[in-house]
Amino acid sequence: MLLKNVKLPDQTKLTDIRIEDGKFVQIKPDLIANDSEQVIDAHGNLLLPPYIDSHVHLDATQTAGQPRWNETGTLFEGINIWAERKQTLTIDDVKARAKKAIYRQVENGIQFVRSHVDVTDPSFTALKALLEVKEELKDVIELQLVAFPQEGVLSFPHGKELMEEAVKMGVDVLGGIPHYEFTREYGVESLKFIVDLAQKNDLLVDVHCDEIDDPQARGLETLATLAYETGMGDKITASHTTAMGSYNDAYCFKLFKLLKMSHINFVANPLVNTHLGGRFDSYPKRRGMTRVKELRDAGINVSFGEDDLKDPWYPMGDGNMLDPVYMGLVVGHLMGHEDILNSYNFVTNNAAKTLHITDHYGIKEGYPANCILLNGTNFYDVLNEHAEVLYSIHEGNILVETKPKEIKRNF
Ligand code: FE2
Repeated sequence: MLLKNVKLPDQTKLTDIRIEDGKFVQIKPDLIANDSEQVIDAHGNLLLPPYIDSHVHLDATQTAGQPRWNETGTLFEGINIWAERKQTLTIDDVKARAKKAIYRQVENGIQFVRSHVDVTDPSFTALKALLEVKEELKDVIELQLVAFPQEGVLSFPHGKELMEEAVKMGVDVLGGIPHYEFTREYGVESLKFIVDLAQKNDLLVDVHCDEIDDPQARGLETLATLAYETGMGDKITASHTTAMGSYNDAYCFKLFKLLKMSHINFVANPLVNTHLGGRFDSYPKRRGMTRVKELRDAGINVSFGEDDLKDPWYPMGDGNMLDPVYMGLVVGHLMGHEDILNSYNFVTNNAAKTLHITDHYGIKEGYPANCILLNGTNFYDVLNEHAEVLYSIHEGNILVETKPKEIKRNF
């Protein structure tokens, strides 16, 4: 396959790309098509590595309104509703909903996903289902599964044993939820347990960390200290960290030194954090998002996730990474022109670092031919115009083709 007249984001001139045996083999201008080689003319449109959703919950997706809608819009009502819905899960139910969400994600150019899976369920129905989905769709999407203790490790019966069992079942990443544990001490102990278990099993860590508008929530400093002292560093990710939006500046100044030393990654979920955040405020209302701009400017890796797609925590969402990018730029005051042009990094290259997939992710000769051709010549236009993913190519195969919409103007 030959892609002609492609615009790569870090180059000013157009180039051509040859794909053979599922890999990028040549990236340079003026390549000549071989006999019978499939040629796609990009007409100067932007080619990116595929979108990555670095934080989503595919076990709960498509359950909004079941058994009831979250009318307060709080994280805690969401957890209560999910605890009820969880009791009716079946493997077929989880698989059907997860696949429905994944198909929309793939149609929108996503090829890599990190999904948290609630393991505070002794039957492990959701985890069994998502392990099957991961295997069944492995030629379409690379799915990382996080053992996520939604109702706590120390605060849920046999929480530690459930995490250990999830490791045996084959998860890729271990999660946590320190701000939801009964006490600060439980929160600290849960993080020590999770990091230790991950080290023993050579797994990554991704913690729902301080997802609360409480300036006293301090799970992050413990997680970053563990990353630093154990040497796990960038194998550890702090998701949400919305309490950082409420920390005072003096504490944050001190904290950022540790964060830089620790090399941990951050995932913000701009849509869901903004929706769930500030719910206990009257006015002024806090925005609910972590300090994305300050983290980025400090050289700390930040990516964006969708988090929830039509579930008890968020009633919206359609598997399109342009949505969290748009919201993240607005809420994070990241609307400088260069900020917007480069914002694809939040859902591509930065997310690849978080998922630890940079050894096979990116448009480079010799790498697997994974890429998306967008209907726009730069990301400013792509984001503003909700540009279609014209082609999503995975290991050299065209997964999805989209024809641009045609508008007939009668005036
Ligand atoms: Fe989450």
